[in-house]
Amino acid sequence: MSRWLSHWGLREAPFTKEVADADLWVPSSRKATVETLVETCRDRGHAVLAGEPGVGKTCVLRALRHRLPQDGFRLTYCHNVTLGRRDFYRHVCLALGLSPSATAAAVFFAISTHIEQLGTEKVHPVLLIDEAHLLHQDVLDHLHILANYEWDSKALLSLVLVGLPETRQRLTLAKNRSLWSRIHTRLALGEAAPGDTAEYIGYRLKRAGAERELFSSDAIALLHEETHGRLRDIDRVATDALKLGARRKIRTVDRELVVRVFGEQEATIED
Ligand SMILES: Nc1ncnc2c1ncn2[C@@H]1O[C@H](COP(=O)(O)OP(=O)(O)O)[C@@H](O)[C@H]1O
Ligand SMILES: [Mg+2]
Repeated sequence: MSRWLSHWGLREAPFTKEVADADLWVPSSRKATVETLVETCRDRGHAVLAGEPGVGKTCVLRALRHRLPQDGFRLTYCHNVTLGRRDFYRHVCLALGLSPSATAAAVFFAISTHIEQLGTEKVHPVLLIDEAHLLHQDVLDHLHILANYEWDSKALLSLVLVGLPETRQRLTLAKNRSLWSRIHTRLALGEAAPGDTAEYIGYRLKRAGAERELFSSDAIALLHEETHGRLRDIDRVATDALKLGARRKIRTVDRELVVRVFGEQEATIED
């Protein structure tokens, strides 16, 4: 085990991106977002979730996956979306367990038949598209066809588009209005509020085995101010603070140590 972890009495690194689904931090504000997405999938609707980098959008998708009953839903997660239309459909084919065909038309036929099949089986397919701001326009042009398939006058699959705030701006362009008008659930995920940042830090430290408070409250306040509550930035700074604190054999991460970490990070950027 690393020296810095044993210094703080931690079992494992507290702020890694490898978070087990069951260990995700889901405070009440995020729970509401996850529940709204669950409801949207149950209603066979479509959703968009937009937010700045590092606020926890992908983790919300993982919480959704964890929360949706396994029977009844078939989830496909797609994050490699910088593809042209044909390659995108091939990718969806593979994700759905279908053999991708040579032509775009054949691929589209395979997907739509498969989705209709699922419709009769009462299994609802949910296509989670992460980094949706990177979608090519020709893919967007065709997503509304997928979104449009119906069974009992309900959509045969749910689209959940997740991406940076630009995702919404693109969807609201006139040329995308027919897809946009079908997306009834329009959510934004914001940065953590100050209280949330404190809760997040405490939660992840505890999961990693901390048995006492390792950060002073003014250290957390500064961390929040400087990161604006973006979780990925909090992860990075908090980890650096723990490492530096261990080197200096400090017992609690205080404000002064966090100031130093920010100073060192700026120095590295300027180098
Ligand atoms: N609900 C959560 N529980 C635990 N850690 C989280 C959670 N949300 C975000 N994080 C942390 O923040 C990092 C960035 O989150 P991520 O979901 O990848 O952000 P985004 O997709 O918005 O860029 C993750 O790697 C993880 O360490
Ligand atoms: Mg992400």
